[in-house]
Amino acid sequence: MDFRLWTLDTKLETLNSELETLNSELETLHYDVIIIGGGAAGLFCASEAGKRGRKVLVIEHAGRVGKKIAISGGGRCNFTNIYATAEQFLSANPHFCKSALARYTPHDFIALVNKHDIRYHEKKLGQLFCNESAQQIIDLLLNECADAGVEISCNSTVDSIAKIDDQFEVIIKPHRLTSTSLVIATGGLSIKPLGATDFGYRIAEQFGLAIEPPRPGLVPFTLDPSLLERLSKLSGISIDAVVSHNKTSFRENVLITHRGLSGPAVLQISSYWKPGDTISIDLLPDIESFEADEAELINVLARSLPKRFAQAWCELFAHSKPLKQYGRRELETIASQLHDFKILPSGTEGFKKAEVTVGGISTRELSSQTMEAKKVPGLYFIGEVVDVTGHLGGYNFQWAWSSGYVAGQSL
Ligand code: FDA
Repeated sequence: MDFRLWTLDTKLETLNSELETLNSELETLHYDVIIIGGGAAGLFCASEAGKRGRKVLVIEHAGRVGKKIAISGGGRCNFTNIYATAEQFLSANPHFCKSALARYTPHDFIALVNKHDIRYHEKKLGQLFCNESAQQIIDLLLNECADAGVEISCNSTVDSIAKIDDQFEVIIKPHRLTSTSLVIATGGLSIKPLGATDFGYRIAEQFGLAIEPPRPGLVPFTLDPSLLERLSKLSGISIDAVVSHNKTSFRENVLITHRGLSGPAVLQISSYWKPGDTISIDLLPDIESFEADEAELINVLARSLPKRFAQAWCELFAHSKPLKQYGRRELETIASQLHDFKILPSGTEGFKKAEVTVGGISTRELSSQTMEAKKVPGLYFIGEVVDVTGHLGGYNFQWAWSSGYVAGQSL
């Protein structure tokens, strides 16, 4: 025998026996359900599965669960929206979320909030916020999990995942965990310091599941330095406007910042925006046309817009004079600039500032009834990691509850 081959053989034998020793040293624990990610979706799914008598473990890599919930809604958590329907969600398949949203509705979650004596109020447009603190929603989830006998392990990093026959093996050294069902609830890529990772997408890839490319959503726009400089006089001003992208429009506030554009209407449209696209802002949505009269343009604008904005607008785009002194064409141009103010964002502030991640595990891969991967029985994806993204206003938490619920009833 070739000496080099013999040496390699011996090395391989040694490595194999070391691996066997290491494996035997790993302590094996079995669960019915292992959930990776202790955020809104993971904790809610855990309590539902636990209530059905399942032995459940939640694995969270951060030091505590629910970090995003804690800072959501400005610390008051906009935990649902009473008007939630499939229409407020983006997905390659807009029908996918219908089933889960119908099986676990905003009213179901409101009943749970009432059961926990959490006081809340509607801020606007059906958005429900805690009166006191977002921590109350985390406590609600932790109490539900405790009542259902769910185990939660924080500061736990998964080393590897495998499917062996009909069981999942999750290695968290020095433990070897096995489970009948495995739920991936690791969320999207938004805001790394709050625990965001690409773990869910990597697991999807490992099991051969397609992903809709993730991109930042509900995120401020950045502008070209030259445009930014022109708009710098308007920085800090917030106006009620309609922002549109193709056929999608939102009427809410637009905030001009020293980096670009923000405010609810801009955040909403950003989820639909792709690099290179132009957006249009209607700065005077309640005024159809200008009558040529004695009033000066600046004063006409100041009837509907903040005075500082009207002033800066006139300095930038039209010399202010009495309306009757403009020609018909001029007035039409001014009106169209105000109703269809076109802006080409240079980009967004990215995942650092995005409230959500648009895209994720392709809904083609999942059952809309259960969130189970069609190709990998026992493997589930729930919450933001899935290609279902809500508008601003409590819809993303409702998706976390609804998708977590249907998975929790199935596994
Ligand atoms: P979520 O991100 O909540 O949880 C994922 C968990 O998995 C995290 O705890 C993370 O640490 C953990 N994890 C990640 N990788 C891991 C790994 N490898 N191993 C173990 N654990 C891992 N929505 C809304 O409806 N109303 C609101 O008021 C707000 N407000 C808001 C404010 C801000 C600043 C942000 C960034 C987002 C919001 N949102 C919101 C969006 C909402 O927070 C979000 O959609 C949900 O938290 C998604 O729930 P998930 O459980 O899917 O992910």
